[in-house]
Amino acid sequence: MSSLVVIGAQWGDEGKGKITDYLAQQAQVVVRYQGGNNAGHTVEVGDKQYKLHLIPSGIINEGKPCIIGNGVVIDPKALLDEIDYLENDGVSTDSLTISDRAHIIMPYHKILDELSEESLGDRKIGTTKKGIGPAYMDKTSRAGIRICDLLDEGIFANKLKIALEEKNKVLTLIYGHKPLVFDEIFSTYMEYGKRIKKYISDTSVEVYDWVKSDKKVLFEGAQGTLLDLDFGTYPYVTSSHPGSGGVCIGSGVGPTAINEVLGVVKAYTTRVGEGPFPTELFDRTGEYIREAGREFGTTTGRARRCGWFDGIILKFAVRVNGLTSLAITKLDTLTGIEKLNLCVGYEKDGKLISDFPASLEDLGKCKPIYEVMDGWDEDITMCKSYSALPENTRKYVEKIEEISGIPAKIISVGPNRSETMIRDD
Ligand code: GTP
Repeated sequence: MSSLVVIGAQWGDEGKGKITDYLAQQAQVVVRYQGGNNAGHTVEVGDKQYKLHLIPSGIINEGKPCIIGNGVVIDPKALLDEIDYLENDGVSTDSLTISDRAHIIMPYHKILDELSEESLGDRKIGTTKKGIGPAYMDKTSRAGIRICDLLDEGIFANKLKIALEEKNKVLTLIYGHKPLVFDEIFSTYMEYGKRIKKYISDTSVEVYDWVKSDKKVLFEGAQGTLLDLDFGTYPYVTSSHPGSGGVCIGSGVGPTAINEVLGVVKAYTTRVGEGPFPTELFDRTGEYIREAGREFGTTTGRARRCGWFDGIILKFAVRVNGLTSLAITKLDTLTGIEKLNLCVGYEKDGKLISDFPASLEDLGKCKPIYEVMDGWDEDITMCKSYSALPENTRKYVEKIEEISGIPAKIISVGPNRSETMIRDD
């Protein structure tokens, strides 16, 4: 590895946290480039479990430089809570830096996120209501407040005053909400600024220097390809670019800085929130996968929708991200299912569809075409090498490779760091 991007190849929750943590052991620096504390990584090391939302999972590797890039939107309270959570657990955050160009999530962003979801009723996006979307909206409408603004009282006061004039109009006139008070927000955010100050830097320079000196840089994506603002199942998407295209914009380096793109893919498919999901299971097998895979959100606790593996989604992820290899996670969840279905194409109105459609109406009409494979009963969590896996598990992995056209270099058979294998065949 020189520089490597780790991307979710489905709808997020693929286990990127665990894979990133595993790879971070070899990396010299870990960079987060998009999203906010709407992401949720769970990393298990030995008998310890860490739940992270904003700080790169690399932080668990003591002393490893970790960077929150300019493409991330930062809720300062959430950031400080996570810093305290780690420090209280004996994990030092001294090696963390955050971009002075990153945008800040303000109290009105969270309130507007909630009010907007409520007002959408049945058409709600299913956001985590943490203000991520409204913060990105302010960024693109050039009304955002950035981390660097927190460093200067006068600049911050001026920007907050202008923002509140507009936001209070929206809150009171459109939603009938009470107006927000300048003084409260100002003093709270100034306090946050004082604590965050030591972490702030021009991280674009840092990332550039790391790349230039041929260090092993790991870019850690949150969410997944189908949640990408441009390539996801719009409008049920996140407000940033989890795909590999987001790396350059979100960390401040050019495309030539990227050597490899690893797609993390679950051995089946899950989805949180609304929108069509062609391989969704509504039967006992779906229940079984949800329970066995503990498919409940890290951030929200919401039950995830579960379904069979979808090869059309994977091929799409390979194409739009330029994936060079795969990490297949949660194979152990499928243990005990007699017959496994793998979607190898869609059928819509009597026609074969082999590319993931843009229109959700079209996707809703797509019926999966399955290839049926024999499952396995053996406990695979103890397997330490690829060749030790049962033959049917290997056939399943190799089918996924055949569909994607790229090698599955990492196989994960349990949540722990130790339950991970690099292909040895
Ligand atoms: P987002 O960035 O929010 O999309 O999260 P994520 O991709 O890091 O996934 P998340 O941590 O939310 O979910 C993965 C869950 O599966 C965690 O609880 C992991 O500990 C667990 N996990 C990861 N790999 C495996 C595996 O191979 N087997 C099992 N059983 N669990 C796994």
